[in-house]
Amino acid sequence: MNVLRLPLIAITTAVALSACGDNLDRADAGNSEAVALGEKLYAENCAECHGADLKGQPNWRETKADGTLPAPPHDDSGHTWHHDDQLLFKYTKLGGAGVAPPNFKSAMPGFGANLSDHEIWAVLSYIKSRWSLQAQARQAGLNK
Ligand code: HEC
Repeated sequence: MNVLRLPLIAITTAVALSACGDNLDRADAGNSEAVALGEKLYAENCAECHGADLKGQPNWRETKADGTLPAPPHDDSGHTWHHDDQLLFKYTKLGGAGVAPPNFKSAMPGFGANLSDHEIWAVLSYIKSRWSLQAQARQAGLNK
């Protein structure tokens, strides 16, 4: 009995593992699972600066007294969609200090210690899902 059951358990486990092991490697606004996970992670990690509505902080183009910029919007009114996926990924993982020129004083923290690569792609999938189809198409051109 047990001998017969074992292979079945092995097969079931393998199938379950491959389903969870489907790691994201890009921002995909059409992947509803990624977008749902990203929405939750965005609320927990990004909304305090970039806004729950993705509108960013007030006067986001004006440098503050401490030399840093406010957080920009992540919707069409910002410039997130002017950058390709790889840059958005690096900016989120390493923070501004890891990507921007050395003389630029960044206030964007890196999330590499808190979010896995899969989770970062999920957040970016959510952000992308909030862009107009026109902005999505323009940005897709940059990824080629
Ligand atoms: C403590 C405030 C803060 C938090 C939290 C934060 N950001 Fe930022 N972010 C900024 C600021 C300020 C900038 C503007 C550029 C700079 O200072 O480096 C920025 C810039 C960016 C940029 C580059 C500019 C652009 O629009 O393309 C990306 C991408 C980005 N943030 C993504 C995220 C994501 C994703 C999260 C959540 C996982 C997040 N940020 C959380 C403050 C924050």
